[in-house]
Amino acid sequence: MATVYVLNGPNLNLLGSRETAVYGATTLADIEKLCMDAGQRNGHSVVFRQSNHEGELVDWLQEANTKAAGVVINPGAYTHTSIALHDAIRAIGVPVIEVHLSNIFAREEFRHHSYVSPVARGVLCGFGPKGYELAIDGLANALKA
Ligand code: DQA
Repeated sequence: MATVYVLNGPNLNLLGSRETAVYGATTLADIEKLCMDAGQRNGHSVVFRQSNHEGELVDWLQEANTKAAGVVINPGAYTHTSIALHDAIRAIGVPVIEVHLSNIFAREEFRHHSYVSPVARGVLCGFGPKGYELAIDGLANALKA
């Protein structure tokens, strides 16, 4: 049994009330439950966190390097701006799966570029909360291989 970190970036604490036409009515607590269930189904324990602060996400990625077998991350808007997250993922040895609730390629042009994708093991976007579950399944599969 391994530990999987699920990390969430800025404004994702507001899910359920934030731009519901884009992100739906599901809250972050609902997504946490979904991730816990997906972890359990795959025989892994899940550590689920959210921060509005870039440095804290960097700290957690570094922590995951020694405490987790892999990471699922929704970096929120830092996806499109953060060389620090890119470097942190590059620096660690565990696989990282990038997930987005919305299809970032079907939205504004500034969301089309991700600093995280080139260093991610896999990317999922546009599947809503289900994407987190698919990311955990994909990560668990990669860990088996
Ligand atoms: C998001 C997409 C980002 O562009 C946005 O800044 C978010 C959420 C998503 O899950 O669809 O905060 O990562």
